[in-house]
Amino acid sequence: MTEIDVDALLSQLTLDEKAALVTGASFWNTVSVDRLGIPAITMSDGPHGIRRQPDDREGGIGGSYPATCFPPAVALGSSWDLDLTRRVGEALGREAAALDVQVLLGPGINIKRSPLCGRNFEYLSEDPLIAGSLGGALISGIQSQGVGTSLKHFAANNQETDRLRVSADVDERTLREIYLAGFERAIADARPMTVMASYNRINGVYATENRWLLTDVLRDEWGFDGLVVSDWGAVNDRDKGVAAGLDLEMPSSGDAGPSAVVRAVTAGELREEDLDEAVRNVLRLVARTLPEVRVPDPVIPDELVEADHRLAREAAARCAVLLKNDGGILPLSPGASVAVIGEFARTPRYQGAGSSQIVPTRLDDALTAIGAIATAEPGFAPGYRIGEDEVDEALLTEALDLAREADVAVVFLGLPASAESEGFDRLDIDLPAAQLELLRAVAAVNENVVVVLSNGSVVRTAGWEDGAKAVLEGWLLGQAGGGALADLLYGIENPSGRLAETIPVRLEDTPAYLSFPGSGGHVRYGEGVFVGYRWYDARDAGVGYPFGHGLSYTTFGYSDLAVRVSGHGEQLAVDVDVTVTNTGDRAGREVVQLYVAAPAAETERPERELRGFAVVALEPGESRTVTLPLRWRDFAYFGVSEAAWIVEAGTAHVHVGASSRDLRLSAPVELPVDPIVPSLGRESSLAEWLAHPGGSRVLGEALQSVPGAGGFLSDEMLAVVGTMPLRRIGRFPGFGLDDAALDAMIAQANAL
Ligand code: BGC
Repeated sequence: MTEIDVDALLSQLTLDEKAALVTGASFWNTVSVDRLGIPAITMSDGPHGIRRQPDDREGGIGGSYPATCFPPAVALGSSWDLDLTRRVGEALGREAAALDVQVLLGPGINIKRSPLCGRNFEYLSEDPLIAGSLGGALISGIQSQGVGTSLKHFAANNQETDRLRVSADVDERTLREIYLAGFERAIADARPMTVMASYNRINGVYATENRWLLTDVLRDEWGFDGLVVSDWGAVNDRDKGVAAGLDLEMPSSGDAGPSAVVRAVTAGELREEDLDEAVRNVLRLVARTLPEVRVPDPVIPDELVEADHRLAREAAARCAVLLKNDGGILPLSPGASVAVIGEFARTPRYQGAGSSQIVPTRLDDALTAIGAIATAEPGFAPGYRIGEDEVDEALLTEALDLAREADVAVVFLGLPASAESEGFDRLDIDLPAAQLELLRAVAAVNENVVVVLSNGSVVRTAGWEDGAKAVLEGWLLGQAGGGALADLLYGIENPSGRLAETIPVRLEDTPAYLSFPGSGGHVRYGEGVFVGYRWYDARDAGVGYPFGHGLSYTTFGYSDLAVRVSGHGEQLAVDVDVTVTNTGDRAGREVVQLYVAAPAAETERPERELRGFAVVALEPGESRTVTLPLRWRDFAYFGVSEAAWIVEAGTAHVHVGASSRDLRLSAPVELPVDPIVPSLGRESSLAEWLAHPGGSRVLGEALQSVPGAGGFLSDEMLAVVGTMPLRRIGRFPGFGLDDAALDAMIAQANAL
């Protein structure tokens, strides 16, 4: 934090200087104005580690200063653990400060609309509550160290195909409830210093030129008071961006950005006040993030390297998800004879490709870590070459010879780096064929197979998992993932990760299957709010593994659900208490999940939506009561015609459980809100008039003077003409209801 008198500086800046300040100076630095002592600040990717390039003119990937590679978002999302995520954030903030980085470009919280999105490994969840609250925890942690964050990619950037031009065509309700909700929450919880406007268009308008998005919603509705930066190269017309609320263009566009701004201001096409506001936001960011003393030598001290590696291992162990564990084959006993099969055991895949790729300080592999725990030396066979799709007979034979002799075969499978990356989307969700062939062959010679997966986006498990007694989904776990996997396999750590995204049975079952990634410059979000589990639950469709699923080496019981309701209308507070007990014989962590089913109403709603969760660490036999708070918004949907959040009166239900499909306890909740009475208008139908308290009275009186009108009100007639606007019925012979008379009735009815 540095003292800067923003307004005093602003008044001394020339138009050229102002225009220069709202575009970057290089790939990573902002512009400095030496004349006035305005310094530059540095931004860096990650965000699961710091990718600080030694030269700020260098945009390439690789060659950055070493930094701890924590579990990428796909893994961290599966921890469902806010405290852990915040601690990871604090460590990221400390490393960023040590590397003289003022803004870390993350977290990325875009919703996983389709499992095919090439960048899903950089995102947290298919659900906005997980994405927003874990994103918020990261932001709080990073910013607690005085380093800024950039919440990205705002908004509806849910695919890589044509990402710099495609228009995400999304209805407003879906945007508000699914694609913006996580951003709204993270901003409210953690106040990120910057938000990054995405590459794509939203309903035809570039995010970087979208005033509705960047100003009306982000600033005016949500109260965001930081800086909006463009994704790198996302600016289309710089002057339009300034007018829309895009404060800073990154990286430098040479003279293109500044000259467009100067031209537009001089021509009277851009208000200088809008430019001033952008400059103010840049100066404020500099003031907020610039340390009093700059780091002379960007290097992470050894003690931090050690401590952060330990934290990376602890975090990784909380992120892996135990999908299946038949007969309690896991945890392994250290004395068991184990065949470790699969190149990924020796050569870990631990982060994804693209701008988030960092240079780790160290790299653990599972094979070495298993060797350090097992008392009997494990055998190893690579089984396949990463990235090759043909079965190598020699490698296969070697693996089978090893598997035959062992008590247990632990088979490491996964996606090669080439399968998923920033910049392109996947075409399928299958593991490489050669790996599946290997698994089939191993399962034929050893019935005790444990599969460990390494993948950044969901892979299909149906079709091969019968060959495995246990499946441990290891995602991409960061630089200490190898050690964490060994800890989990041997029960040194008890798995507590939960799926933050559904594993589908088939790609064809997924919500966006028919419309992803679109064509002709458009992608239509036709599934609406039914994204992820909301889709499968609405259709009562089978899944591979449901959202929220994850096993433990212990078991948990749920009891004593109690719901306390207070307040009325927007002050509504529903506190849900539930007692969780560790009913097994090992310490473990349960992730208690709270889903809300809205009252039955005309507006289509998801069956259930995640509205609360908590991680509870319990010793064997220990119980704890957790309270999960629900508020008015947790029961609301976004009414497009009303342009507002709406809670319908009626009976909602709360469901508490261990996954979206393992709901243990439920209770009804009578919502103390006033029923919504929509105002009547010229378009209102006969049925709407009759349902309206004032309308039914006014209409009843009016119809008394119309001979035979009563016939219109019989049940048979209402079934046929109930949907007709009263205005049209009023023109029928005998009614004589002209617009003036109708308007008078409308005014009278609405006033009652
Ligand atoms: C990515 C951003 C990243 C930026 C800077 C873009 O291509 O979409 O996530 O922060 O580059 O590297």
